[in-house]
Amino acid sequence: MNGRPVGILGTGKYVPDRVLTNEQLEQMVETNDEWITSRTGIKERRIASDAQASSDLAYEAAVQAMAAANVTAEDLDLIVVATITPDMAFPSTACILQEKLGAKQAAAFDLSAACSGFIYGLANASSLIASGLYRNALVVGAECLSKITDYTDRNTCILFGDGAGAVVIGEVPEGRGFRSFELGADGSGGELLRVSGGGSRNPVSQHTIDEKLHYIYMAGRDVFKFAVRIMGSAAEEALRKAGLGKEDIDLLVPHQANIRIIQSALERLDLPEDKCVVNVNKYGNVSAASIPIALAEAVEEGRVQEGDVLVLVGFGGGLTWGASALVW
Ligand code: ACO
Repeated sequence: MNGRPVGILGTGKYVPDRVLTNEQLEQMVETNDEWITSRTGIKERRIASDAQASSDLAYEAAVQAMAAANVTAEDLDLIVVATITPDMAFPSTACILQEKLGAKQAAAFDLSAACSGFIYGLANASSLIASGLYRNALVVGAECLSKITDYTDRNTCILFGDGAGAVVIGEVPEGRGFRSFELGADGSGGELLRVSGGGSRNPVSQHTIDEKLHYIYMAGRDVFKFAVRIMGSAAEEALRKAGLGKEDIDLLVPHQANIRIIQSALERLDLPEDKCVVNVNKYGNVSAASIPIALAEAVEEGRVQEGDVLVLVGFGGGLTWGASALVW
């Protein structure tokens, strides 16, 4: 990659206290723990309180990441929040977070690439630092998916959860940091995964509410097929661009949507399970927050050492995908 070497200086995460278990879902829709566990690997997920919005979750994760990076709010010159559940249409969740943090010097914007949003955010922010425009950026994935989930639809309500993960990125010594990004999109698959109400196509009306257009719609099987194909190929492409091979991976940090999708990526990359972060059982699919939460937990658990090669990889609505190879 061109320009100054840029890498992750600190990580943080936050998940709400409230737990929604498979057993509780059995009381809400026609489903059971055995079906959910065998098809998805999910046992429970976290749910934000009525009072919590994505910026509140983002704030907690950001404070942790800034402390870990030894960076103050005044040191930040860019805030990027990847989310499909912004606090409101505008102002951006990034601007709301900027105010909460008191990061007065920071430019701030939201980025919408669904579950790939965090990788898209890293690619954007790291390029702006590598070019010399900025020094320290906060990149957050924050979601309150429970607020756009239909808890009468068993096809979707078993999958999603709430949470936030954050990193501070900045200049690192030569030979470390991000080595490649692989971003992609296929808008022809946009219909497969969407919230179609509330925007300029279908503004909020009694009709959009009656038709439940404010909730996530997902064609699960089609998304599954796409995910299985793209997770492995995006990771391989990121490695190729970085001049690395599958055998160089010390830790894979995949989007946590479904354990079967993660396992197919491990097979394609010839990786044993102990070289992969898995927490989908605890949090379900937290969209843009899932990769930074998984990364923060891996760091907390001491699974990441200086010089390790990490591959982050995700896919999501859009359809979109993103992967990055980096040296810790
Ligand atoms: N409990 C019990 N039965 C269920 C449930 C449930 N919660 N949900 C669906 N079923 C039924 C279906 O109705 C279907 O019955 P039918 O055959 O009589 O129609 C049967 O179980 C099998 O359904 P499938 O859809 O074939 O199940 P599959 O094995 O594909 O698993 C799943 C479904 C888990 C949704 C899977 O397709 C998947 O993980 N897809 C990808 C989801 C994903 O990653 N989304 C990303 C979203 S990210 C973002 O951008 C927000």
